[in-house]
Amino acid sequence: MRLSALASLVLLPASVFGQSSSASASASAGAGGNETAATNPQAYLQAVLAALTQANLTSLVGVATGIANTTEGLALLTSLSVGNKTVFAPSNTAFANVSEDVSSNTTLLTQILSYHILNNTYLPAGVATAPNHTIARSLLRGGGYSLPGNFSAPLVLGKNSTNGTSFEINQASDNVSTTGPVGAANLQVYIIDEVLTLPPTIGQVATTLFPSLAGVIGQTGLLDPLSASQGVTIFAPNDAAILGVTQALGQLNSTQISTILANHVINGTVAYSNQLASANYTSAAGQPFTFTSNSTGTFVSSGGSIARVVQSDVIVSNGVIHIIDGVLVNPGANPEAAASAYSSATAAAATSVEATTPVTATSTAAPSGTGGPATTSGAASSAGQVVSSKGLVGGLVGFVSILGTAIMGGGLLLL
Ligand SMILES: *[C@@H]1O[C@H](CO)[C@@H](O)[C@H](O)[C@H]1NC(C)=O
Ligand SMILES: *[C@@H]1O[C@H](CO)[C@@H](O)[C@H](O)[C@H]1NC(C)=O
Ligand SMILES: *[C@@H]1O[C@H](CO)[C@@H](O)[C@H](O)[C@H]1NC(C)=O
Ligand SMILES: *[C@@H]1O[C@H](CO)[C@@H](O)[C@H](O)[C@H]1NC(C)=O
Ligand SMILES: *[C@@H]1O[C@H](CO)[C@@H](O)[C@H](O)[C@H]1NC(C)=O
Ligand SMILES: *[C@@H]1O[C@H](CO)[C@@H](O)[C@H](O)[C@H]1NC(C)=O
Ligand SMILES: *[C@@H]1O[C@H](CO)[C@@H](O)[C@H](O)[C@H]1NC(C)=O
Ligand SMILES: *[C@@H]1O[C@H](CO)[C@@H](O)[C@H](O)[C@H]1NC(C)=O
Ligand SMILES: *[C@@H]1O[C@H](CO)[C@@H](O)[C@H](O)[C@H]1NC(C)=O
Ligand SMILES: *[C@@H]1O[C@H](CO)[C@@H](O)[C@H](O)[C@H]1NC(C)=O
Ligand SMILES: *[C@@H]1O[C@H](CO)[C@@H](O)[C@H](O)[C@H]1NC(C)=O
Ligand SMILES: *[C@@H]1O[C@H](CO)[C@@H](O)[C@H](O)[C@H]1NC(C)=O
Repeated sequence: MRLSALASLVLLPASVFGQSSSASASASAGAGGNETAATNPQAYLQAVLAALTQANLTSLVGVATGIANTTEGLALLTSLSVGNKTVFAPSNTAFANVSEDVSSNTTLLTQILSYHILNNTYLPAGVATAPNHTIARSLLRGGGYSLPGNFSAPLVLGKNSTNGTSFEINQASDNVSTTGPVGAANLQVYIIDEVLTLPPTIGQVATTLFPSLAGVIGQTGLLDPLSASQGVTIFAPNDAAILGVTQALGQLNSTQISTILANHVINGTVAYSNQLASANYTSAAGQPFTFTSNSTGTFVSSGGSIARVVQSDVIVSNGVIHIIDGVLVNPGANPEAAASAYSSATAAAATSVEATTPVTATSTAAPSGTGGPATTSGAASSAGQVVSSKGLVGGLVGFVSILGTAIMGGGLLLL
């Protein structure tokens, strides 16, 4: 892979829609319960829409009705009707802020709605208390959101630490809290005040935040290997970490930098924080990772370097990013081991089974909103899940400047 791709790993700032809504949680179940889209699609849809209307979720009703005639919309509706589902329903205010190019695109709307639906019953009491969090699978899969094993894109959920009836949905730019639920047929509907942002792609991240580099990135295909990976785990150093080693990295040639960056990536495997300790992972450069946990957090090591995970489980379209507080300065490479790990990951994905019940992850998150260097004591308990995009951008700028140096030096070599 072209390792400089790592340079562009930053999250798109999510658009913030809407503010507050007084949508009430008092509507009662509106459907008989045993209609399904398979046996009586019209009756099922009408029952669900009636319950949503009663909860004043009229914009959502409009969106759902608008996609019900499309192939993707019908498929979603069919999935929705099978088994219990948990729905995060954006309020009217939230939808009012959706732009025309989104609201007129039924494919995109269907993807967005899919990402608001969990494939089971989830209760705030059944997920980890924030800032710890739970990985919950949505119905969004395929069409640019392909994960190994055809798994769906997950949401990251916590229980509000002061209000046990409210979820916190963790996004890159903010946490979204819920009210409800409202029952509707087989659905438990929690109301939210913004439309959730689809997981960004690595390409979107790069070209949005670094328009000046878009040309270079396009020409060199720099991001292609990472973007094309069907499943990737990235340990992305934060800005303070980058600043700390910029000078040292400047002494290295582009091959060495590329190798170091590859030692921050697991190729072919999406390992959420709860999975880090449960297997032996090999980097895209073929070096082993080691994970340890103690009272101050979870640590990742590669070669002689160790860094603390300051923000776990930041979801991107083809994988996950964990933000770390140091650069893993491991110049070691073993291409055979890298290829072998990738083959094993691909084989494992073919037989893996997606969880449809809550999977709890223990977050070791950054101090809320700072994006700065993590404090080394007590941070795990004082942490918030919000990632400061400013901090990430700062880190990325650092990586990009290193990348720029590598480009100038004629580097960007494949492993
Ligand atoms: C329903 O939503 C509209 C905005 O679309 C708002 O003006 C109205 O107050 C809401 N009604 C209730 C009962 O929440
Ligand atoms: C639910 O199923 C039962 C028996 O299977 C049937 O008698 C009843 O009419 C159904 N209810 C609805 C609302 O379809
Ligand atoms: C869906 O299709 C039916 C028949 O093809 C049509 O009558 C109806 O107006 C359509 N609804 C929407 C929302 O496009
Ligand atoms: C759906 O939820 C109901 C009530 O919470 C429960 O009784 C039922 O077993 C669930 N069905 C499935 C398929 O999980
Ligand atoms: C609609 O959204 C889909 C999925 O994001 C995208 O591939 C397609 O280009 C969009 N269509 C238009 C006309 O923008
Ligand atoms: C939902 O989960 C069930 C297993 O509980 C699985 O069979 C089904 O394919 C899942 N549906 C979707 C749309 O992911
Ligand atoms: C988060 O998980 C850790 C490790 O399991 C635990 O020690 C801590 O108490 C949890 N925090 C909350 C708020 O539940
Ligand atoms: C948690 O709940 C409290 C009380 O309802 C609320 O003030 C706070 O904003 C919520 N926190 C989050 C992150 O949603
Ligand atoms: C807790 O959250 C619910 C919505 O889920 C809300 O109705 C209630 O007022 C909140 N309680 C407190 C104490 O903020
Ligand atoms: C993952 O491994 C495959 C097969 O060796 C390779 O083609 C691809 O470029 C690698 N991707 C990354 C991100 O290292
Ligand atoms: C980079 O440095 C290493 C170690 O000194 C050396 O083996 C390698 O040939 C160098 N690569 C380039 C492209 O200069
Ligand atoms: C990781 O590798 C070590 C050493 O080979 C082995 O003892 C251990 O069981 C492995 N752990 C897992 C989870 O596979």
